[in-house]
Amino acid sequence: MDVDEAVREGRYIVVKALEDGVTIMGLTRGRDTRSHHSEKLDRGEVMVAQFTDLTAAMKVRGRAEVLTDVGRVESGT
Ligand code: TRP
Repeated sequence: MDVDEAVREGRYIVVKALEDGVTIMGLTRGRDTRSHHSEKLDRGEVMVAQFTDLTAAMKVRGRAEVLTDVGRVESGT
């Protein structure tokens, strides 16, 4: 899959922080799984992020509402 295709087809994740200091980490696709980016959100802030050729998984630390195409889940509870 090339980058354009990965971005076109990529699913989205919506994360709403329910407390200050929620961290979202983007984890690399492929054999290695390492954190390539991290974002801090304060309570009420929302991040909309996309899975791409670079990002295969995301990790959320702290209390947050997480929406994806497979459903809604609350982290940190
Ligand atoms: N590097 C892993 C991969 O491309 C990233 C990954 C995807 C992952 N899904 C996961 C890591 C689930 C842990 C658990 O497959």
